[in-house]
Amino acid sequence: MTLTPMPTTAGISSMRLAEGAIRTVLITGVSRGLGKALALEMAKRGHCVVGCARSQDKLNALQPDLASATNPPSENKHLLMNVDVSLNSSVEEFARAVMEKKGVPDIIVNSAGTINRNNKLWEVPAEEFDSVIDTNIKGTANVLRHFIPLMLEKKQGVIINMSSSWGRSAAAQV
Ligand SMILES: NC(=O)c1ccc[n+]([C@@H]2O[C@H](COP(=O)([O-])OP(=O)(O)OC[C@H]3O[C@@H](n4cnc5c(N)ncnc54)[C@H](OP(=O)(O)O)[C@@H]3O)[C@@H](O)[C@H]2O)c1
Repeated sequence: MTLTPMPTTAGISSMRLAEGAIRTVLITGVSRGLGKALALEMAKRGHCVVGCARSQDKLNALQPDLASATNPPSENKHLLMNVDVSLNSSVEEFARAVMEKKGVPDIIVNSAGTINRNNKLWEVPAEEFDSVIDTNIKGTANVLRHFIPLMLEKKQGVIINMSSSWGRSAAAQV
């Protein structure tokens, strides 16, 4: 397997995976939005999708869609699990199950995220603010905590953490 060191803005080397191979792609937040769209596209391109979210009904609905998007169609290629990324214990259990059933993911996309309703900063309810921090920051950290050691051991892996330009700029009510 070819790994190409890539310089990052942080000055730390990361690794680019060889192109063209079938990969195991772990995506958080696959029940809707970007995570779901990415999961379906990865399946269509022949990759194995490991996905998670909290809405079991949406995970159940996604399973057959992923199977039929897979080329050739396959029932058991992908793994979807009910995981709350904001809970360290839930992600720990997820990592154990992924290792047992699919092995170390080649790529991780941290797409699970939430946002508070537009509001003046001082009027954002505490529980909404907590939810944003718990999911977007602690959730990503929980995934990194449990999967980076596995990738380090395998000496391979790519991690993509989704962010938003809203997180890097100031705007009224955001
Ligand atoms: N859409 C955009 O235009 C845009 C632009 C810039 C950046 N982004 C970023 O891209 C990411 C995805 O955005 P999106 O628009 O696809 O969001 P979305 O449609 O609201 O979907 C969010 C996904 O995250 C999951 N999720 C939320 N909390 C979770 C938790 N605690 N544990 C596990 N899964 C959780 C949700 O599933 P459950 O509710 O079922 O758990 C859902 O599948 C976010 O990080 C967002 O900030 C989006």
